[in-house]
Amino acid sequence: MHLRSNLPGLALALALACARPPVPPPDAGEPSPTSPQPEGWDEPLRLSTLEDLDPAADTVHVALTARVASVEVVPGKPTPLWTYGGSLPGPLIRAKKGDTLVVSFQNELPEATTIHWHGLRVPAEMDGTEAAQKPIQPGASFEYRFQLLDSGTYWYHPHVRSSAQVGYGLYGMLVVEDSAEPPLGDALPLVLSDLSVDAEGKLAPGDESGWFGDYFGREGATLLVNGRVRPVLKARVGAPQRWRVVNASRARYFRFSVEGQQLILLGTDGGLISAAQAIPQLTLAPGERAELFLRPKPQAQGPVTVNWEDPNRFHLPQGRNPEPLFTFEVTDDPPYAGPALPTVLRTLPPATVDGPTQSFELMEKAGAPGAGAVLGINGKTFAESAGSPVHARVGTTELWEVTNSTLYDHPFHLHGFFFEVLSVDGKPPAYRSLKDTLNVLPKQRLQLAVHFDDRPGMWMFHCHILDHADLGMMAMLMVMR
Ligand code: C2O
Ligand code: CU
Ligand code: CU
Repeated sequence: MHLRSNLPGLALALALACARPPVPPPDAGEPSPTSPQPEGWDEPLRLSTLEDLDPAADTVHVALTARVASVEVVPGKPTPLWTYGGSLPGPLIRAKKGDTLVVSFQNELPEATTIHWHGLRVPAEMDGTEAAQKPIQPGASFEYRFQLLDSGTYWYHPHVRSSAQVGYGLYGMLVVEDSAEPPLGDALPLVLSDLSVDAEGKLAPGDESGWFGDYFGREGATLLVNGRVRPVLKARVGAPQRWRVVNASRARYFRFSVEGQQLILLGTDGGLISAAQAIPQLTLAPGERAELFLRPKPQAQGPVTVNWEDPNRFHLPQGRNPEPLFTFEVTDDPPYAGPALPTVLRTLPPATVDGPTQSFELMEKAGAPGAGAVLGINGKTFAESAGSPVHARVGTTELWEVTNSTLYDHPFHLHGFFFEVLSVDGKPPAYRSLKDTLNVLPKQRLQLAVHFDDRPGMWMFHCHILDHADLGMMAMLMVMR
């Protein structure tokens, strides 16, 4: 097949990322007076925030506008991006577990859009897909309103032409805090993404490279952390940091380790995991999140650079070279002695499957004569299966078996409901956690327990390489009472 011979060329093109100096930080907030961190430690990474328009303690009401705004990613060459609130990424939305979140959303983009609240257990009509609502036309508005049932690290993005719209800059993080959680370090939100922008600041079109772009997944050559190129933050020996990381890229996977330092996994998509896990590296497929704990150890030599590493989702003979992502400089503040991490982070109720088993094969097949291959689930593209959704019943826990018969990785994402991984190729995972997005390797078999709580309606599941969802790897799920 001709497309295989194009792979190395594409990988080479993807690897031709050029490094650019950091972008100046926006207005910095006030550091917490009790924080042991060096002054301004996270300034180069601070995200914009939104004013809470509702004085009630248990309601967070924000106004959010999607609009084209000029953002300087390439120094001196501003790029017109599609933004939430004029910033890249969009503003950080912070609330507490149990709060009601109200988002008065205004669309000032040149085309229709919606907002999907990735990972949140919202009512079906608030899910922001085209199954849930009519796209919000240019000039129109929509009010999203739902309760935040779970603490954790989430994100929001459009669900209309999502690869193009996310690629143009529409994504933001949403953090739901829980005062019942033990203190786990000073929060550092990290929105990882990439941008297809050239040296003149010109943005590539969302359909760049046509079918090839869809099939391989569009990766931008400029790596971003909270919208900045290679930011530098400060760290103090011993002062614990709690990283909340989201991979908000259309297609790029992120993997990193931190040389000379120990990363500890605290949480995944659906909040804290059962017990902290020391991990050699973190890998996040598009859509996935992680919470990490890092207590900087003394650095023998200079700053610590965190590099993007290639998880090699194409399974090429050789992956791409690492690239710098961000750096922290360890200050000479006296080492801080903080409390030890609690051993138990969370008690998860047992996952007991009491419903039917459903199997989903992520696959590809020939497209129309003369056109490239298409992607699908169980033999059907989204267009072919949309009229006949999969069914599930509220109050049950189903066993979902997910396999991948293609030659490349796909991150499987389910809207609106968490799942727990029961086994990967027959083996139980090392710790218990709640997920909504999970990478599936070629030929792998995942067994997931999916609990359907009482939120009936039409939902979706799809590959979170957004180009793949567009190429057909998406399906509908009808949850009934
Ligand atoms: Cu981030 Cu359909 O999802
Ligand atoms: Cu989602
Ligand atoms: Cu995919």
